[in-house]
Amino acid sequence: MTIHRPPTAPPAQPCRQCNDDLVASPSIGLKFSTADRSRPCLDPRNERLLCGARAVPLRPKTFAVLRCLADHAGSLVTKEVLLEAAWPGTAVSDGGLMVCIRELRRALNDDARKPRYIETVHRRGYRLIGDIVVAGGPDDASAAHRAKRHTPAASLLVGRAAELEYLRGSLDDARRAVRRIVFVTGEAGAGKTTLVEAFAEEARGQGGLWIGTGQCIAQYGVGEPYLPVLEAFGRLCREPDGRRLVDVLAREAPTWLVQMPGLLERAGLQTLHQRVIGSTRERMLREMSQAISAVTVDRTLVLVLEDLHWSDHSTLDLLVSLARWPEPVRLLVIGTWRPAEVSQPEHSLHALHGELAIRDVCAELPLGFLTETSVAAYLAARFPGRRIPSGLARSIHTRTDGNPLFMVNVVDYWLGQGGLEDSAERLVLKPRLDELETGVPESLRQMIGKHLDRLGSDEQRLLEVASVAGVEFSAATVAAGLEDDVVRIESGCERLTRRRHLLRAHGEEAWPDGTVAGRYHFMHALYAEAIYARVTPGRRAHLHRRLAERQEAAWGSRAPEIAAELSVHFERGGNPRRAALYRRHAAANALRRSANVEAVDHLRKALILLEALPQGRGRLRRELDLRATLGIALMAVKGYGAIEVESNYRRAQEVAEQLGDTTRLFRVLNGLRRVHLLRGELSAAHVLGQRCLALAETAAAPDLLVQSHCGLGVVLCFMGDFVRARTHSELGAALYDSRRHRPHVLGAADDPGVGNLAYAALALWYLGYPDQALQRVLAAVHLAREQAHPFSLAYAVVSAAWLHQYRREIEATDAQAEAVMALSREHGFPLREAQGAIMAGWALAARGNRQDGIDQMRRGLAAFQATGAAANQTYYLALLAEACGDAGQTDEGLRLLEMALRAAESSGERWWEAELHRLRGELVLREGTRQAVQTAEANFRRGLDVARRQQARSLELRAAVSLSRLWQRRGKHQQAEHLLGGVYRSFTEGLHTPDLREARSLLKT
Ligand SMILES: Nc1ncnc2c1ncn2[C@@H]1O[C@H](COP(=O)(O)OP(=O)(O)OP(=O)(O)O)[C@@H](O)[C@H]1O
Ligand SMILES: [Mg+2]
Repeated sequence: MTIHRPPTAPPAQPCRQCNDDLVASPSIGLKFSTADRSRPCLDPRNERLLCGARAVPLRPKTFAVLRCLADHAGSLVTKEVLLEAAWPGTAVSDGGLMVCIRELRRALNDDARKPRYIETVHRRGYRLIGDIVVAGGPDDASAAHRAKRHTPAASLLVGRAAELEYLRGSLDDARRAVRRIVFVTGEAGAGKTTLVEAFAEEARGQGGLWIGTGQCIAQYGVGEPYLPVLEAFGRLCREPDGRRLVDVLAREAPTWLVQMPGLLERAGLQTLHQRVIGSTRERMLREMSQAISAVTVDRTLVLVLEDLHWSDHSTLDLLVSLARWPEPVRLLVIGTWRPAEVSQPEHSLHALHGELAIRDVCAELPLGFLTETSVAAYLAARFPGRRIPSGLARSIHTRTDGNPLFMVNVVDYWLGQGGLEDSAERLVLKPRLDELETGVPESLRQMIGKHLDRLGSDEQRLLEVASVAGVEFSAATVAAGLEDDVVRIESGCERLTRRRHLLRAHGEEAWPDGTVAGRYHFMHALYAEAIYARVTPGRRAHLHRRLAERQEAAWGSRAPEIAAELSVHFERGGNPRRAALYRRHAAANALRRSANVEAVDHLRKALILLEALPQGRGRLRRELDLRATLGIALMAVKGYGAIEVESNYRRAQEVAEQLGDTTRLFRVLNGLRRVHLLRGELSAAHVLGQRCLALAETAAAPDLLVQSHCGLGVVLCFMGDFVRARTHSELGAALYDSRRHRPHVLGAADDPGVGNLAYAALALWYLGYPDQALQRVLAAVHLAREQAHPFSLAYAVVSAAWLHQYRREIEATDAQAEAVMALSREHGFPLREAQGAIMAGWALAARGNRQDGIDQMRRGLAAFQATGAAANQTYYLALLAEACGDAGQTDEGLRLLEMALRAAESSGERWWEAELHRLRGELVLREGTRQAVQTAEANFRRGLDVARRQQARSLELRAAVSLSRLWQRRGKHQQAEHLLGGVYRSFTEGLHTPDLREARSLLKT
């Protein structure tokens, strides 16, 4: 990673107003008028504005707009919020709002270009920056004055000129389609958010950008795949020109749009669901890159991801994928994180570092603390026009080391306890500085504690519940915790937002039961942490439980949508039963986003939660359900060979047997059968396959029958029992109904309909029906395409590649191999991709490009083994051995065949066994010695025997061709004719295939 360490802070641009290193940014606060002493006063009772002696009547709409701006003084108020305030529930254009703003500016004698009261925030809304008093309301003159003293600290930015400049440079790069990922790092309170917000606000002012912000959340965010990304895009889509983004997502990234259901009508959502069946992690990652490519053709995207130390795994995956995306993209990602939170080596951010380190798109921008000069600049900016006591900046700097959050808290503390007084012209130190200094807490945490001590008991109670709800919360949740009225809580939150600067407004939240309430965010996560730490354990648990129950009731049947959050509340609220239930739902949600890592994590936690429940059948049923899903997700995350995959299934089997639950036991055993099959442990797979069939027959369940015939057909085929394999596969195919037996959309499991057709095809070829086999395999591919299920399609296409190879059709094999590789790369099926590579390597070698083909096959084989899979190894080794033999590498060919024969012996995989013997004969024969001829003959005979035993006429034909050729060379024409003619004449189809053509021409000689 390119570590950018800003040079020892270059002198910042001095600001003329305070003559210090305050960073002068066009949109960063400091525009409060200090000259105007006769503050305008808002008179709600008479809906007018009093400007000195002048009373200006306002139209009701205009008054409502001003009231709304005053309620959020100092903060951006979006057009939507203003429109809702003045025209509640009515769809109106911006025009009416602009008329109101113009009217207000006239009344206030304000200038849009040099605003003293109402500032336009380009394309977004407006902000009240001047000092207006609300008569008779809670914001009386002194409150307004206090609010001014507490000028929102986030709007002040000092000492970050170099960092801002760096971000501007990165944005310039992004605009030139040189993508940038910048990580702003620093400890809690170092000013990461403040810097990024200031930069984003400045950039917004320039226009022509998409700027989306998403927040990672400590409590439950880790379990919500793509949480900050979905938040950022969800918000962008709701912006005035967000429709364009929705259209791009619909076109390029349906798997993402489907995760933001609020943006679509019901019908649109249903169509979208159809389009995303069987989506995979890779597809989601690719689609987002495509969408960003499309949406940034003419407009740069700035994506701010806050607090990545609490990020889910999938968001980090997306960053890697965006860094790798081969096309130029106008994208700037700014991620913030605290290094102290990622100190454990297993934190996923380390992996991200590793991956991004090799790419030149990424930089780290570490934030140090503020210098003494910057502290002085802060004081000058916060108390404009006042004389600042000498030594005050130094004292604060010494106390706080220049940690900005600590600095702000120390100033607030002194102001609050009267040690520092803000008068018209100067900041007055009440006691001497050294006296003032005593009693200031040593650490930031203690300081925050003091700050909280000064709050009123109602405020403390409100914040206490809020901290239990999370760093971000809805006023309705807090109201539930306090059993109070939502509107009262909202007013309390607004007060804490305006006066104490402990919270900030964060839009609003609507619940399915109709509850609508403001959403708030702790100004700083440390506040939430500090308050939470002060709540006694018993009360915490009580509150968590109450919040969970209220939210659960409000969301009703849609409660699973907020499962990750509910599971945390129920867990901390001491209700493991419901916590486990919601973990299960959260896992299903994660699987819907193809996020297996998060799913595994939820399921493991759910299993731990179950341990707290009383033993009994209910608990066992829950455990079984969790383990069945865990098995599929674990295979995707860990590979088939992982011990945990098997031990999970073994335990599940034990539980299912205890319960005597046929259907669940079937699911578990079938999963376990698949594990053994893929590992090449065929006798274990066979036993399990038979048990599955017995269970399905007892239950007389068509679903289970289709699956068990499929499972058994596959295993028997690998074992070389082609007759029984064909019977099972064909029975399964006949029972299959594509409308009823949909593929398992949540996981990487094959569709049994596709499996039955594919293995019926392979068995048919061995049994001597090459044309029927071809028809079947094409039907399997067709069915998988119809299902739009990529995992099954990859399975069908690999089978088609094998079949074409059996038929010695080089071009067709190659085409299917390329197709499966492309599909697998797209969706992330490493096993299938490796299989495709082996087959493509074979085609390359068969075309005469021998060494390249061999190299490719070896690479494919290594990738295949790396997945933990071993099934079909004998076949792949044989293909490689044959290619080596053709390239004159006879010894290597023989060595590979030995390996394959040993593998066949240990695994029980016998479907290519006849060929292994025959090929060994062919390679040995090249030695040309008398002894070699005898050995070769013995091998051909062995191959012939095996094929006959298996009734594998296609392999019998090959062995007969090899043996007949040898006999012919040795003058045994009659014997040769008798052997080969018998086998050849038993074929009724496929006469044009190379094997049969070769036999025919040999018979003619
Ligand atoms: N450069 C700055 N100039 C003035 N005030 C600042 C500056 N940086 C931070 N602050 C003040 O410090 C407070 C804490 O900063 P901020 O929230 O940005 O920290 P952070 O690094 O994002 O912390 P966390 O890791 O907890 O998210 C801000 O609310 C603001 O009041
Ligand atoms: Mg922050």
